[in-house]
Amino acid sequence: MKQSDYKYQTKNNEIVVRDFVFDFPVDIDPVWIPCNPVRSHMFNGFSLTMPYLEPYLIRSILKAREYVSDPQLLKDMSGFNHQEANHFKCHRRYNELLKANGYPELERVEKHMVKAYARLESKSLRTQLAYSAGFESMTNGFTHWLITKRVALFGGANPHVSSFWIMHMIEEAEHKTVAFDTYVAYSGQYLARFLGVFHGSGHIVGLGIWAMFISLKKDKILYRPKTILQILKELMLMCANVGPFMFRALLPSFNPRQVQDPQWMKDWVKGYTTLPKDALIPLLDTSNPDMPVPFKLSHTQK
Ligand SMILES: [Fe+2]
Ligand SMILES: [Fe+2]
Repeated sequence: MKQSDYKYQTKNNEIVVRDFVFDFPVDIDPVWIPCNPVRSHMFNGFSLTMPYLEPYLIRSILKAREYVSDPQLLKDMSGFNHQEANHFKCHRRYNELLKANGYPELERVEKHMVKAYARLESKSLRTQLAYSAGFESMTNGFTHWLITKRVALFGGANPHVSSFWIMHMIEEAEHKTVAFDTYVAYSGQYLARFLGVFHGSGHIVGLGIWAMFISLKKDKILYRPKTILQILKELMLMCANVGPFMFRALLPSFNPRQVQDPQWMKDWVKGYTTLPKDALIPLLDTSNPDMPVPFKLSHTQK
């Protein structure tokens, strides 16, 4: 299945493997966005999927290695796997706190995911890689949504969880080309990649929303009109902000290199390089009306 005509295209961003550690308080409130249990539980639901999804992404990339000969792509694949490994370990710590702090029922979704990924891995490698590339095309939309709407989404929210989500999405944008390139190097067939956008994205959104319903039911607010309206609002916001990125990913001419990273993300990446070795990642000031990057920027970076 190896495509002998695969040619690596240069890209603008570097994949940096950083320490990805957030010191979540053990008594963290799972409703981490004040007065917004729906949004809190929706993001918690997405977090719940990560320790199952991201190890799967890593395995799919590892399986594809023997079909890839381009040294630059191999280097990107390694960077991708290191970043994803750091992400899912941190999500797992956070998810354990969610379950310990009131939502042990989430384990039901976790048990389902073990079986779902085992089933997916019995399918062809092309289907597996198309799923990975499809999911990654959605994360790019999340990066833009979470960064450009950070104040509206996370203003006044828990700084650990807000910072954790935004840093995760920054690293997603850094490695946005890798699953796509791996798919193209292995197969490149358009139809499977097209279907993978729905498969990878729809699966994770569906699982996250299922987990959100479980949590809202536990809170005994799921069937309230206010909650239902808020769920519809959150889903519409997600579709409006992430949908265009997924639509673009469906086009035959799509390449993640076409998507420009937000300036705030570039400032964050540059600011991170000024951080002393072994220093903890500075948290966002979610009470600041601009929620600036948590680093001192030089004049030219503003
Ligand atoms: Fe990730
Ligand atoms: Fe990723």
